[in-house]
Amino acid sequence: MNYDFTENSEYDFENRMVAPEYTPEDAEVENPLRPKRLTEYIGQEKVKENLSVFIEAARLRKEPLDHVLLYGPPGLGKTTLAGVIANEMNVNLRITSGPAIEKPGDLAALLTNLNEGDVLFIDEIHRLSRSVEEILYPAMEDFALDIITGKGQMAASYHLPLPKFTLVGATTRAGQLSAPLRDRFGVVLRLEMYTPQQLAEIVTRSAQILGIPIEADGALEIASRSRGTPRIANRMLKRVRDFAQIISDGVITYQSAKIGLDRLEVDEIGLDANDRRMLKTLIQFYNGGPVGIETLAAAIGEEAVTLEDVYEPYLMQIGFLSRTPRGRCATHAAYLHLGLKPPAQASEEIIQQKIDGI
Ligand code: ADE
Repeated sequence: MNYDFTENSEYDFENRMVAPEYTPEDAEVENPLRPKRLTEYIGQEKVKENLSVFIEAARLRKEPLDHVLLYGPPGLGKTTLAGVIANEMNVNLRITSGPAIEKPGDLAALLTNLNEGDVLFIDEIHRLSRSVEEILYPAMEDFALDIITGKGQMAASYHLPLPKFTLVGATTRAGQLSAPLRDRFGVVLRLEMYTPQQLAEIVTRSAQILGIPIEADGALEIASRSRGTPRIANRMLKRVRDFAQIISDGVITYQSAKIGLDRLEVDEIGLDANDRRMLKTLIQFYNGGPVGIETLAAAIGEEAVTLEDVYEPYLMQIGFLSRTPRGRCATHAAYLHLGLKPPAQASEEIIQQKIDGI
């Protein structure tokens, strides 16, 4: 058999392998993999330490946990953590999202159907409409719905008590949350990117649950390319398993992981073809920047928000891209990674100097 998976071959994959967003395919693989308890949850040590104290204290007081806001990049386990909280508190979890709650009545229906102590998880909570948010304030603060019906002389207001519940809100953009909403969360936790070692542990655990034999350096190879994100690591595990079946008798070894991921065009540090295209455009069309985000987006045929939300966070995290007041700049490290010769002085340093008036 020929295992020569060269670049630009016809292996087609519909979705971006390194997208941190949730896809329907993740649901299949992710659910059995989701840890149910804090002790099973790998990484996020600070978050776990604090949460375990808050959960324990709430349980001792026989009260629901205070409202929790989770923020951080997508794919780091915010929904999973909401599930863990519900399990640890021994209550039900209801899952919804900001855009799914269209009208105040949708939220009222959700809230009135909760049981005492339940966890209501609202993903992308920064996308709630203003009118829905206003219903949420008294619900969070006083566990009550304030409803006004009718108009003029027929107007009547009702104060409807709700069961005491815990709202777990998740957002990738804490800055976009309105101040009154943010202030109503008693617990605010920031999720961090995972280290390759933590991701290797997650991949090994997932492989075990799925019955996939994996060697330690195979797990580490997947981990190193998954951009600090368990969701990406678990997705890669599933794809690499297919390559391992053909290359290495079903065992994920370093070699089969490497061949599989090379073939999927995910490089050693987790950049995919899109990331490289964005950096190359920035470097080759715009001398490494600074260039405005709209201009860069147009040049590569994407929306500016896609660049901001999908590509940039990781590129900035690994120090390949910087945002300056005058636009985006590629760093020295980005040039080197792409095998390009960096300018004598990295462009963002030049810009900084101009700003500083040197
Ligand atoms: N699967 C996804 N995220 C995880 C985590 N943080 N710990 C264990 N398994 C996971």
